[in-house]
Amino acid sequence: MSGSARRHRITIGSGLGIAAGIIAALTWRQRLQARKTSPLRCAGNGRVALITGASSGIGAAYARALAHAGYALILVARREARLQALAEDLTRRYHVPAEVLVADLADPAGVARVEARIAETGALAFLVNNAGFGIRGTFVENDIASHEAMIHVYVNAAVRLTRAALPIMLAQQHGAIVNVASFVAFFPVTGSVTYSATKAYLKSFTEGLHQELVGTGVRVQALCPGFTRTEFQSAGKIDERGIPDFAWMPAESVVAQSLRDLDNGRVVSVPGLGYHLLAALCVLIPRDLLYSLGRWVRRYRAAAVTSFDGFHKRTYAGFSDFMADVRYMSHNREQIRAAMRLIDAPFRERLMLAVTQVNACRYCSEFHAKQALRTGLSEDEVRDLLDGDAAQCPSDQLTAILYARHWAEAAGNPDPDIRQTLMETYGAAKAAAIEMVLRMINVGNLSGNTFDYILYRISGGRLGR
Ligand SMILES: NC(=O)c1ccc[n+]([C@@H]2O[C@H](COP(=O)([O-])OP(=O)(O)OC[C@H]3O[C@@H](n4cnc5c(N)ncnc54)[C@H](OP(=O)(O)O)[C@@H]3O)[C@@H](O)[C@H]2O)c1
Repeated sequence: MSGSARRHRITIGSGLGIAAGIIAALTWRQRLQARKTSPLRCAGNGRVALITGASSGIGAAYARALAHAGYALILVARREARLQALAEDLTRRYHVPAEVLVADLADPAGVARVEARIAETGALAFLVNNAGFGIRGTFVENDIASHEAMIHVYVNAAVRLTRAALPIMLAQQHGAIVNVASFVAFFPVTGSVTYSATKAYLKSFTEGLHQELVGTGVRVQALCPGFTRTEFQSAGKIDERGIPDFAWMPAESVVAQSLRDLDNGRVVSVPGLGYHLLAALCVLIPRDLLYSLGRWVRRYRAAAVTSFDGFHKRTYAGFSDFMADVRYMSHNREQIRAAMRLIDAPFRERLMLAVTQVNACRYCSEFHAKQALRTGLSEDEVRDLLDGDAAQCPSDQLTAILYARHWAEAAGNPDPDIRQTLMETYGAAKAAAIEMVLRMINVGNLSGNTFDYILYRISGGRLGR
C-alpha cells in the first residue's frame, strides 16, 4: 500500500473513531441528565401514580414497582376484589396509600370516572395506560363490538387519560406517562389485526407526544413487550401453544426494563435482547418479506397446535439436549481422536451406517453411504447395511455392528450384558472407541432428524418426512 493511501486510511479511521466517541459522549451525557430528573427519583412527597389494568399481570407489576419507589397509588380495573387485595398488600409492604378505582375502560362512562379522578389528583406524577385484553381469530371472525371495545380500551381511554393527566404534569413540570403497547406495534399481525393496529397507534402517539414534550419535565414511553407471562393468554384467549419457552418473559422483568429505560430517557422500550434485535430488524426488512415471515410464523403456530402422528424419527427433545451432546463432544476431544486412531475408516463407516439405519436420518444415510464407498465398502454392502443387514461385514466386526444397532434402538442405553460382550470381544479401550463413534453419528442423526421435524411442522406435514 502506498504511503498516501495508508495516511488516507488512518485519517478516515481516526475520523470515524472521533465521531463514535462524540456520539457515545453525547448519549452518556443525555442519559446522565435524564437520570437526574428521572420520575423514579422524584417519587414520594405525596406524588401519585395511576395504573390502569392493575388487577393482574404487567399492571400489578407496575403497581408493586411504583409502590416500592414511594408513589401513592390509584389502581384501576374492573375486578374490585383483586384490586382491593393488591392495594392492601402494597400499603402493608411499602407503607404507601393505595386507592381502588373500579372502571370499565371499554365504557365511556368508566373512562370519564377515571378522568374525573385524575382532575382531582393535583399531585399526579405517573400514569400507566396498561389495561387491555386480546381476542382470538381473524378480523371478520370477531364481531364489531369486540373490535370497538379494543379500540376504546387501547386508544380512546389512553388518549383521554393522557389528555387529562398532561395539564397537571405540565403545571408541575414533572411526570411520566407509560403507554403499554406491544412488540406487535412494529408490524401488522394477522389474527390480531385490530390489536396490532391499536398498539402501533399507541407507539406512534407516544413518540409524537415525546417530541412535543421535550424540555417540559414530562417524559413519555411506549413499552413494547414481547410474550409476557400474565393472565392475558387465558383471559384474552391468546393461544400460547407453539410459542417456545425462551420467548416468554416474566412481567416483573418487563416492568423493570421499562423503568430503567424511563430512567435513561428512552422513549420506546423493548424489553429482552432478542425482541430488541427483532424490533430493529422489523424496521429494516422489506414489507413483502415481513408479510411472508408473518405467514410462516402463522403456519408454524397452526402446525404446533395440530397433533401430528406422521413423524416417527428420533429427534432432540429440546435445545438443551442438543447442547448437552455438543458439550460432551467438546469435552471429550481426546477420546474422539483415540476413536479415530483405534477404529479404521471402513469399520467406522459400518458402525455409522448401522446406527443411521435405526435412526433413519436421510442426510446421514446419503453422506455416509458416499463415505463408505470411498473407504472401500461395496455398493451391495452399503445397501445391505442401510437395510439393516450386516451379513457382508467382516466377521471380526460383526459383534460391534450388531451392538451398534442395539445401542441405537435402546437410544444410547444398551443392555449391560450386551455391553459386556462388546468389552470382552474388543477390550475396554476399543469398546470405548466404538461407543464414541456411535455417539458421534448419533449427534448427526438426531440433528438431521430434528431439522426435518421443524420442516415437517412448518410445512404442515408436507416436508421433512
Ligand atoms: N402478556 C403479554 O404477552 C403482552 C405482550 C405485549 C403487550 N401486552 C400488553 O400488556 C398490557 C397488560 O396485559 P397483561 O399481559 O398484564 O394481561 P392481564 O394479566 O390480563 O392484565 C390485563 C389487565 O387489564 C385489565 N382490563 C382488561 N380489560 C379492561 C377493561 N375493559 N377496563 C379496565 N381494565 C381492563 C384487567 O383487569 P380486569 O379484568 O380486572 O378489568 C387486567 O388488570 C395489555 O395492554 C397488553 O396488550 C401484553
